[in-house]
Amino acid sequence: MPRLRGISLFFARGSVVAEMVELTVGLDERSYPVFIGAGILDRIGADLARRNIGNRYAIVSDSTVARLYGRRLQQVLANAGLLAELFAFPAGEESKSLTVLGDLASQLAGKGFDRYDAIVALGGGVTGDLAGFLAASYMRGIPFVQVPTTLLAQVDSSVGGKTGVDIPQGKNMVGAFYQPKAVYIDTDVLQSLPPRELLGGIAEVIKYGVIRDPDFFTFLESNIDNIISLVPEAIARTIETCCRIKAAVVAEDEKEGHVRRILNYGHTIGHAVEGASQYSIIHGFAVAIGMVAEAKIAVMHGLLAPRENAKIVHILKSYDLPTEVPENLDRKEIRQYLLTDKKNVSGSILFVLPTAIGETVISDSVTDAQIDAVLL
Ligand SMILES: NC(=O)c1ccc[n+]([C@@H]2O[C@H](COP(=O)([O-])OP(=O)(O)OC[C@H]3O[C@@H](n4cnc5c(N)ncnc54)[C@H](O)[C@@H]3O)[C@@H](O)[C@H]2O)c1
Ligand SMILES: [Zn+2]
Repeated sequence: MPRLRGISLFFARGSVVAEMVELTVGLDERSYPVFIGAGILDRIGADLARRNIGNRYAIVSDSTVARLYGRRLQQVLANAGLLAELFAFPAGEESKSLTVLGDLASQLAGKGFDRYDAIVALGGGVTGDLAGFLAASYMRGIPFVQVPTTLLAQVDSSVGGKTGVDIPQGKNMVGAFYQPKAVYIDTDVLQSLPPRELLGGIAEVIKYGVIRDPDFFTFLESNIDNIISLVPEAIARTIETCCRIKAAVVAEDEKEGHVRRILNYGHTIGHAVEGASQYSIIHGFAVAIGMVAEAKIAVMHGLLAPRENAKIVHILKSYDLPTEVPENLDRKEIRQYLLTDKKNVSGSILFVLPTAIGETVISDSVTDAQIDAVLL
């Protein structure tokens, strides 16, 4: 059973009293808290000191995030009496590699980090996946915490324990399921996020509404400006709802048996579009395109009413997300990617098809002709 707690704690932030939400990802003895709120970055030191996760902390961060928040977090930890070193790597997906993993491991070893120490992953999904896998493998596994700084990482990659790196043969091909000890989500850090990155995260946010929560979908429809302009209450509620859904799904199915698959809505065609564009289309935009394509397939199967399909297209457009495969993208390339996918799952691709806003089914009976029809 998923174990979820929604506790509102109050803490002083300067003279302002800000609200913080705590959720739990329920995985028995590996359960961990997810804290969400404004200004949480400044509270991490005190919380880590209480939890006593490591003797020393290696803050791993990409170059951009290290510049923006690295020294500040290091100072926050120092103020709580914790020893912390900052390890930065070049920003970008290219760094999610075995080479950078090896470099970081050598740097940690060079500074004498041992199995009683811990890692703090400060950054977007690239940092979380890379630093998480470093934690899973360094000295055969040391504890780590996630401090996600992109919307995508806050609503998706920081919760659930998937870690790993890319190899030339494919993304996320080397990795491990390895859960963090805690996740600290500071909504303030989104202020510095480039708008394109924010929008990419919104696509994943909408995905949660479509797969699990019609009320949340309605909330997203009626709060577009508040969410895009990061009004604190609106963005906090958005992140909290997504994390609740992700936490519940992960608690039910940690290692992607059946339930966790629903999180892949929009991703089967999305990944193919992303790959065919040589990653020039960012992940969230590709997922938006994939969600529309997969909803259309659901309509073809008679599973989704055209009216519900129109709602999905409309909300994505309202947030300025793409809904169609760009004309200049080679359809053959997209099909090639799907074919590789098919081989990887021994014969049939599984599609997550929405049947209504908030409900999905998993189908292995989508035909090539149907895929061709939505790629037109
Ligand atoms: N583990 C999972 O379950 C899971 C789920 C989804 C995606 N992912 C992975 O996540 C990665 C994508 O994550 P992403 O979109 O966060 O990319 P990212 O980590 O590369 O971050 C995007 C860009 O934003 C910058 N940035 C991050 N936070 C910032 C901030 N607060 N202010 C200003 N700039 C900031 C980064 O430096 C980077 O240039 C992919 O590798 C994907 O495979 C993993
Ligand atoms: Zn995604």
